[in-house]
Amino acid sequence: MEIKKKIKQAWNNFTSSNEPIKILVTGGTGYIGSHTVVELQQAGFEVFIVDNLSNSNIEVLNGIEKITGKMPVFENIDCTDYVAMDRFLSKHEGIQAIIHFAASKAVGESVEKPLLYYRNNVVSLINQLELMSTHHIKGIVFSSSCTVYGQPDQLPVTESAPRKTALSPYGNTKQICEDIIMDTIYSNSQLKSIILRYFNPIGAHPSAHIGELPNGVPNNLIPFVTQTAAGIREQLKVFGSDYNTPDGTCIRDYINVVDLAKAHVIAVERMLQEKTKKNVEIFNLGTGRGLSVMEIIKTFEKVNKVAVPHQIVDRREGDIEQVWADPTFANEELGWKAKESVEDTLKSAWKWQKNLMKKAEK
Ligand code: NAD
Ligand code: WQD
Repeated sequence: MEIKKKIKQAWNNFTSSNEPIKILVTGGTGYIGSHTVVELQQAGFEVFIVDNLSNSNIEVLNGIEKITGKMPVFENIDCTDYVAMDRFLSKHEGIQAIIHFAASKAVGESVEKPLLYYRNNVVSLINQLELMSTHHIKGIVFSSSCTVYGQPDQLPVTESAPRKTALSPYGNTKQICEDIIMDTIYSNSQLKSIILRYFNPIGAHPSAHIGELPNGVPNNLIPFVTQTAAGIREQLKVFGSDYNTPDGTCIRDYINVVDLAKAHVIAVERMLQEKTKKNVEIFNLGTGRGLSVMEIIKTFEKVNKVAVPHQIVDRREGDIEQVWADPTFANEELGWKAKESVEDTLKSAWKWQKNLMKKAEK
C-alpha cells in the first residue's frame, strides 16, 4: 500500500475510536493559547488547560465556551510547580500531546527581571519535558519566536537562517528553550516536538469573544493602535522614520492569530499521526509579507474608518529594522497557509477593542 494511504488509514483508525484525543494546553487562557483552544475543540480534541493567570483572565474561558459550546477543563497551576503538574497529569490520564504556550513575554520587563524570565520560561519547559516521559505523552509543540533571528542577513528569513545573539533575556529564553528541546529529543527518540517560530501575531477571533488582553500600557503596536483609536491613549508614538525601508518605518510580518492557532492543530495532528520527518521540526509561522508601521496605521484607519493620532519619535532601543518570514516550509510540509487579509485582521482587532470597552462600561 502506498505510504500516504497507509498514514491516512492509520489516522482514520486512530481517530475513529469514540474517545476524543486529549491535549494539554499550558497558557491556554492567554492570547494565542485561547484562540488555539477554540480551534482544537472545533477539530474534536478534548482540551485541558493549565494557566496561573499571571497574564490572563479566567473570564476567557467563558469566551471559549461561547464560541465552541464547550467549556475546557481548567486548573490554575503554575507550570514551574513540578509536583502540581505531575498531580494534574495523573488526574487526567491519557493526555497525548502538550502545546506549551505558558511563558512570560514582555521584552522590557525581561531586561529588568531576567531571573524571573529564566525561571518561568526555562523551568516550565523542563518540567513539561520531564513529565512527558513519566506520563507517556508523545509530543510537544513549543511557542518560539522570530526574535531568535534578530536582524536576519537575508529576507525573507527561512528556518535555516542562523540565530543571532538575543537582544533581551526574553529572546534568550526562546533560544535556550529551543536548544533544551533539541537536546532532549535527540537523547530520547520516543518524544517528538514541533517548534513554531511565530512572527507578529495580531487581531482577534472574528466573534470578538476572545482577543488580546494587554496588561497596563501596551508595548506591542496593535493594542496601542486600538487603544489610541478608542481614545484610551492620546497618541501613538511611531518609533523611528529613518530606517532603511521604503517609508522609513520598521517592517514586520503581521500574522492573524486565528491563522496562527490553526497551525497548532495541524502540528499536533502531525506529531500524533507520526508524519514528522524528524523528531524535532522547526517552522516559521508568518504570512511572507512585510508591512511597515505606517502601512499598518493607514490600513487600520481606512478599514475601520477611525483616526489613529500618531507622532514620529526616536527609534526604540533594540528594535529590528525589518523582518518577515519565508513560510514556504510550513506551507508545503504542514499544508498550512496564512489566509486572513491584513484588512480583516485589523477589523477584528478593532471589533475586539470595542467589545472590551462595552464590557468595561457595564
Ligand atoms: P500571553 O501572555 O497572552 O499567554 C501566556 C499565558 O501563559 C498567560 O495566560 C499566562 O497567564 C500564562 N503563564 C505564564 N507563565 C505561566 C506559568 N509559569 N504557569 C502557568 N501559566 C503561565 O502570551 P501569548 O501572546 O499568548 O504568547 C504565548 C506564547 O507565544 C508565549 O510563549 C510567547 O513567548 C510566545 N510568543 C508570543 C508572541 C506574541 O507576539 N504574542 C510572539 C512569539 C512568541
Ligand atoms: C512592532 C513594530 C515597533 C509600538 C515584539 C517582541 C518579539 C515578539 C513580538 C514574542 C516595531 C513599532 C510598536 C508602538 C511603534 N514577541 N511600534 N509604536 O517589536 O516586532 O516584537 O513582539 O516573541 O519578541 O520583541 O513587536 O508590536 O512591539 O512592534 O512604532 O507604540 O511597531 O517599533 O517596529 P516587535 P511590536
